[in-house]
Amino acid sequence: MNWEIEFNEIISDILVNENFIDLKYVIHHGISRLDHSLHVARITYLLCKKLHMKNLKEVTRAALLHDFFDNKEKFAFYKHADWALENAMKEFQLNSMQQNIIASHMFPICHTLPNCKESFIVSTVDKMVALYELTKYKVPIEIGAIFIFVINFLAIQR
Ligand SMILES: [Fe+2]
Ligand SMILES: [Fe+2]
Repeated sequence: MNWEIEFNEIISDILVNENFIDLKYVIHHGISRLDHSLHVARITYLLCKKLHMKNLKEVTRAALLHDFFDNKEKFAFYKHADWALENAMKEFQLNSMQQNIIASHMFPICHTLPNCKESFIVSTVDKMVALYELTKYKVPIEIGAIFIFVINFLAIQR
C-alpha cells in the first residue's frame, strides 16, 4: 500500500474531530498547530515504518495528538503536554504507551519522563520539526538552534 494512503487511514478519524480541527486557527512556530502536528505525525510514521515497528499505528496517532491544545498562553512549555493528554483522552482511546508519548514529548521540559523508545522517538522528531519550522517561518537557523539548546539546558538544570 502507498504510504500516504496508509498514513491517512491511520489518522482519518482524528482529522474529522471538530476540536482537533480547531488547531488550524492556532499559530505555532509560524504555521498552524494543525500543520505542525501533521508534520510530526508524518515524520514519526515514516521513521517507525523504516524501523519496522509493529505499533506504527499507535505511535503515529499519538504523535498527531501530541500538541492537542488551543490555549494561546505564550510560554506553556511546562504545562501543555498535560493539557494535550487531557484533551486527547477526552476524544480518543489511548493506551498507556500513547499517553506517555504525549505527556513526555517536551522532555526534558515536562513533568513526565519518556518510559519507552516510542516516546523518545516522538520527542526527538518534535524537536527536529520545531527547529525546521522555527527557522523556515520565523527566525534564522542559528537562533532557532540556540533557542532549543538553551531551553533544554535550563530544564536539565532544574
Ligand atoms: Fe509540544
Ligand atoms: Fe510539537
